[in-house]
Amino acid sequence: MSNTEQITAYSLYNKQAKERTKINPLAGVYPDLPNKKYQIIYADPPWDYGGKMQYDKSVIKNENIGFEKEIFLSSASFKYPTVKLNQLKELKVQNITADDCILFMWTTGPQMANSIELAEAWGFEYKTVAFVWDKMVHNPGRYTLSQTEFVLAFKHGRFPQPRGARNVRQMITVPRKEHSQKPLEVIAGITQMFPEQSKIELFARNNYTGWDNWGLEVPNSKVDIFSQFEMEQKKDELQIKLAL
Ligand SMILES: C[S@@+](CC[C@H](N)C(=O)[O-])C[C@H]1O[C@@H](n2cnc3c(N)ncnc32)[C@H](O)[C@@H]1O
Repeated sequence: MSNTEQITAYSLYNKQAKERTKINPLAGVYPDLPNKKYQIIYADPPWDYGGKMQYDKSVIKNENIGFEKEIFLSSASFKYPTVKLNQLKELKVQNITADDCILFMWTTGPQMANSIELAEAWGFEYKTVAFVWDKMVHNPGRYTLSQTEFVLAFKHGRFPQPRGARNVRQMITVPRKEHSQKPLEVIAGITQMFPEQSKIELFARNNYTGWDNWGLEVPNSKVDIFSQFEMEQKKDELQIKLAL
């Protein structure tokens, strides 16, 4: 490496990054989708960040000094296989879309434009930002330190009827947990808004009562949806009971 070439986590940790990158175990790209139509589709795509890593160089004063120290490295592709936009567009969401359907899609600032492009390719029209998640801690960011993620709402056909709750709040302020784990407030809120509609979660990691759940990591047994707030309440109740 020449003296003028900038030393970065990428140049030093590429080997480690390659070893840690998760590979899709399927022969094809996707598991089969259910043979059913849904009025509510909730998706958290495994966005591809081009192998982009987050690394903690907060201890490093100068860009080119101090990388010999073991530094924290993280990337979505170390946690699960990621999928490029063109391949995401190939998922046959049209086959499971009811005539009247709302798509709720998780996105991040850098993936915002891709999310709209993807939903349009799946046959939906962009409507609004349904949820904003304030993670209460920040990640590194190229422009500002990033602290929020978003759930965009898209529509196909008309708004599914009958409507449920109309008082679900857009802003969700709950601390970030494991990497890419989303707050249950969102799926709980969508369930309250659309209690009677057929619902599926795409790229799911849980298997919720009242929903169909699809993805590479969906467990067999169903669990009830409790928001993080409800979980805290249950924990408090249990602690009071144990203390009595
Ligand atoms: C962003 S994570 C979803 C996180 C989830 N919403 C949560 O709160 O825990 C994306 C998920 O998509 C899954 N996935 C990746 N590639 C996939 C594929 N080709 N087909 C189906 N699921 C895939 C990953 O295994 C991962 O579970």
